[in-house]
Amino acid sequence: MTQSPLAQDIAMGSPVRLQTVSAVGQPEVTPALEELYRGFEQELLVPLWTEIGDLMPAHPRSRAAAHVWRWERLRALAAQAGELVPVGRGGERRAIALANPSLGGRPFATPTLWAAIQYLMPGEDAPEHRHTQHAFRFVVEGEGVWTVVGGDPVPMNRGDFLPQAGWNWHAHHNATSEPMAWIDGLD
Ligand SMILES: [Fe+2]
Repeated sequence: MTQSPLAQDIAMGSPVRLQTVSAVGQPEVTPALEELYRGFEQELLVPLWTEIGDLMPAHPRSRAAAHVWRWERLRALAAQAGELVPVGRGGERRAIALANPSLGGRPFATPTLWAAIQYLMPGEDAPEHRHTQHAFRFVVEGEGVWTVVGGDPVPMNRGDFLPQAGWNWHAHHNATSEPMAWIDGLD
């Protein structure tokens, strides 16, 4: 059916888009139903009967696509960043996030995980900060960086996995003469 000018105005500017569907379990498609849906759109409402399949799927469906980031390339590019970008720029960390190819270029490895390669040059400090997100560090190679959590220094060596609860103060210090890189994650 053709929408009235008022219905078209209502629908414009709202991110909610509802379509009437002739299907089992769905209400009969009528002009009144169309008008109801335009009202929902205007007030930013989404009725459960149009969403039930997506809200409660039988199996988890991730929008993320499987993707392999090659450590050799990550490390080479992080090393370039080490030469060009001071550690204090943006977030107090020289961290370069993995952008899942199916998430529109946004800096997330999956819809619920931010993950990045973090790179620290010899003698550099990533200053103390804290955040509500829980975090982890996974050391792919290298040694000699200390993560200081709540004032306690924790060594980081190849193969170590360091989980950290949210809101803890933490810093990193590279006490060696070699750069070091690892994978950071935040939920
Ligand atoms: Fe952090």
